[in-house]
Amino acid sequence: MKLLVIGSGAREHVIVSALLRDPEVESVVVAPGNAGIAALVQCIPIDVSDAQSIGELATELQVDLVVVGPEVPLMAGAANELNARGIPCFGPTREAALIEGSKAFCKEVMSQAGIATALAHICANLTEAEIALDTFGSPYVVKDDGLAAGKGVVVTSDRSEALAHARSCFEVGGTVVIEEFLDGPEVSIFGISDGTTVIALQPAQDFKRVGDNDEGPNTGGMGAYSPLPWLDESVVAEVTERVLQPMADEMKRRGTPFVGVLYAGLAMTTRGIRVIEFNARFGDPETQVVLSRLVTPLGQFLYAAATGQLKDFATLVWYPGYAVNVVIAAQGYPESPVLGTPISGVELAESDQQVAVFHAGTALVGAELVTSGGRVLSVMAQAPTLNEARERAYAGVAQIVIAGSHFRSDIARNACATHS
Ligand code: AMP
Ligand code: GLY
Repeated sequence: MKLLVIGSGAREHVIVSALLRDPEVESVVVAPGNAGIAALVQCIPIDVSDAQSIGELATELQVDLVVVGPEVPLMAGAANELNARGIPCFGPTREAALIEGSKAFCKEVMSQAGIATALAHICANLTEAEIALDTFGSPYVVKDDGLAAGKGVVVTSDRSEALAHARSCFEVGGTVVIEEFLDGPEVSIFGISDGTTVIALQPAQDFKRVGDNDEGPNTGGMGAYSPLPWLDESVVAEVTERVLQPMADEMKRRGTPFVGVLYAGLAMTTRGIRVIEFNARFGDPETQVVLSRLVTPLGQFLYAAATGQLKDFATLVWYPGYAVNVVIAAQGYPESPVLGTPISGVELAESDQQVAVFHAGTALVGAELVTSGGRVLSVMAQAPTLNEARERAYAGVAQIVIAGSHFRSDIARNACATHS
């Protein structure tokens, strides 16, 4: 099988690593990729928001399957373009990806499907926003309706900050979703969907705030671990039955079947499981800890999903033990990351600590590896216990030097403290 993977993050780096373990995968090309991915396979520059270029590249390379990593090409219609060319695509059409592209649309689909989520008001102006804020009370949850790479959400007990975020969204012409606050720990579960059948992967937890103890602004995600020792095993089946399958059924009923990753961001509240959001793709950094533990050949699995054949797909097999992933972010992330800073110690960390270092915002300038994005590297360790995986991941992080960079020091800390 020949594959083309679209994207340039640590998520795509781990997807490629997992695909290369599949004996049926003959070759993988990535567009555009990054410095870490280029060490494994051929990378070709591309504008990921240009669906036609993606289609042309897939045709030229005569690939059997395209795997789309990020949301931008999906919203730009990459899957539509590939479908029209008869090339199997793992990733939803523009119409189905709208579950991520519009929070208001997602709310409507969930409501139709009877999926439990936060109560929400969709607001078109500041007066409506004020009424909604006062209806739900503090803590306030204010979301930009459109795509914002995890940074369009403000959760705060400061009413004026909540209102200021709403105002900034209205100023650029958007609508705003204001919700009730959901308490309880968050869990990410990825459902692999072929449009009809959904198979859930093992759960992971992401750390969205930039600072330790969940302080500071939201980011794309600062670290993750999987599986979750504190989560009852029945939750995956419950989420499949009550969240993922109803979502796939409703999208199919609407004539826009969802093929790809139904990413359910969940809150384990005192009143039960609630959906915080859906994304239309693998999550980053959760994918690093989920796919690293998947024994089932990923190429065959995603091909089966892209071609409507999941119903008879074998039960998934997982490596035992745990995976912990710590993101190293560039100085100034998330507001204004400093680019071009030299990176050293990656190979040392990999050999000394047996960690896998997945690249995100990296580039080679001559022979020198430098930062080229906000989240720079994902340092991931696997071990029989969560404690050991965590210790090794952090030992790996300690060996990597990027001036001014930062990382969270509490990834998986609470889970280790309570379950070891
Ligand atoms: P989203 O982009 O919708 O996933 O939101 C980003 C993050 O904001 C989530 O991962 C949560 O940490 C937080 N968040 C979003 N909605 C809520 C909510 N209704 N209650 C509490 N926290 C929320
Ligand atoms: N980890 C959050 C996301 O991928 O959106």
